[in-house]
Amino acid sequence: MTTNPSTTAGEASPLAPEWLAVPADLNALHEPMWASGVARNDAGELTLDGLAVSELQRQFGTPLFVMSENDFRARARAFSDAFNNAFADICGGVDVYYAGKSFLCTAVVRWVEEEGLRLDTASGGELAVAARAGIPGSDVALHGNNKSDGEIHRALDMKLGRIVVDSIAELERVARIAGNRGETAKVMLRLTPGVHAHTHEFIATAHEDQKFGLSMAGDSTEQAGLSAAEEAVAAASGHPSIELLGLHCHIGSQIFEPDGFALAAEKLLDFLAAMQSKYSIVLPELDLGGGYGIAYTPVDTPRPAAEIAQAMAAVVRTKCAELGISAPRISIEPGRAIVGSTTFTLYEVGTLKTVRVDAPGADGSKSGNSGETGKNVTYPRRYVSVDGGMSDNPRPVLYDADYSAILASRASAAAPQLSRVVGKHCESGDIVVRDVYLPEDVAAGDLLAVPGTGAYCWALSSNYNYLARPGVVAVRDGSVRLIVRGETEEDLLNRDMGV
Ligand code: LLP
Repeated sequence: MTTNPSTTAGEASPLAPEWLAVPADLNALHEPMWASGVARNDAGELTLDGLAVSELQRQFGTPLFVMSENDFRARARAFSDAFNNAFADICGGVDVYYAGKSFLCTAVVRWVEEEGLRLDTASGGELAVAARAGIPGSDVALHGNNKSDGEIHRALDMKLGRIVVDSIAELERVARIAGNRGETAKVMLRLTPGVHAHTHEFIATAHEDQKFGLSMAGDSTEQAGLSAAEEAVAAASGHPSIELLGLHCHIGSQIFEPDGFALAAEKLLDFLAAMQSKYSIVLPELDLGGGYGIAYTPVDTPRPAAEIAQAMAAVVRTKCAELGISAPRISIEPGRAIVGSTTFTLYEVGTLKTVRVDAPGADGSKSGNSGETGKNVTYPRRYVSVDGGMSDNPRPVLYDADYSAILASRASAAAPQLSRVVGKHCESGDIVVRDVYLPEDVAAGDLLAVPGTGAYCWALSSNYNYLARPGVVAVRDGSVRLIVRGETEEDLLNRDMGV
């Protein structure tokens, strides 16, 4: 096989995906992907609120999740302000529940509370964090498609503001448990409006093929002629140990366009109006879930919270007027859009390896990674190994998620080289950033920063290959503290019973 030496500096590699442009300046920070307060200092090193990444590594080691507390608080306030302003004249404002599943620890619960938000949890464990942080139960919601009796008891012990009920069987269990305790459970019903949304697209289908929620379409299994959603409304509204607050839906995650949210809101409002009139009840609340997208790469263009809020408010205003109902109190549950961009993961570079790969399509394959095919044009792809990987960020493996990375420990004037940032796990799919241009002179010992890792990275982390989960530090106004300590070998071994 004949190989060509390289692509020319500054020229796009044929191995790169079409969306990935060669950055004009490899040291520049693409602002939408980073927390406010991230910059380069005069020496070219990445800093957060003036703290250099080499100093963070010295104090806390790598890999490390580095979070800006100010940025978290600012994004939480931005969501809250945007939605409260947009809905002020419709329903007096909006309750914003931070979706704790995206990233949760007691410090974050306190920030959420101090910024005037509430908390959405999805398990007894998340409730335990909420309780430890001391947030009032009235500001907490509990989700889950398979809640245990223990979780329902815990929700009642904590006097939760809402239990979001996912099925008729669960409604009966909540009613029974609350009844046995002589209490009333505050309940929302999670419905599936037949709208799926993902990033730039949404689809509306007649029926929802998914595990969550009460279907608004078709007959319930119990009562012909009633959907599961209606059967639940009928059962909940007459039940002495249930206070039915209203309806809930969540249509997906990492969504950029407001159309899917708007359609779901319209469907829920139609249903809410029909139920109020048929059963002579008032459903005072409507939760439209989370799912607002963030920028993981330069081609992601999330809309500002105010724009989404205004679009949704316009739909709710018009629909309620059309239906002749007063608008229910609206709530939302953003997770990723609050915490995602507050954090970058800091890694140290180890082994580097460059392979030569056929141009994509040379053998009809999309990847071009076809080995010896007799074609004579190949291109370099550099593998840059870091000291973490799929155990601290499984999203590329799970969802083909794209990320970006930057050389953090210094600036570089070297030419861009198409690189794949990979972890240290015994798995060839262990990719952190599939495609990114990094300076040609990246070497072992350099630090890389991967932005946008605040949501669903630490939360989904594992101990695969007995790697210790990294710690999380919060930086605020130039000082840093550990909010979740990294695991030690001791932690890894202390549940091994040795028998
Ligand atoms: N509310 C409910 C009922 C949810 O199920 C979720 C996310 C949210 C709110 C928050 O959604 P967000 O605003 O964060 O998009 N692990 C996947 C995402 C799973 C989302 C699960 N539910 C990922 O890493 O992309």
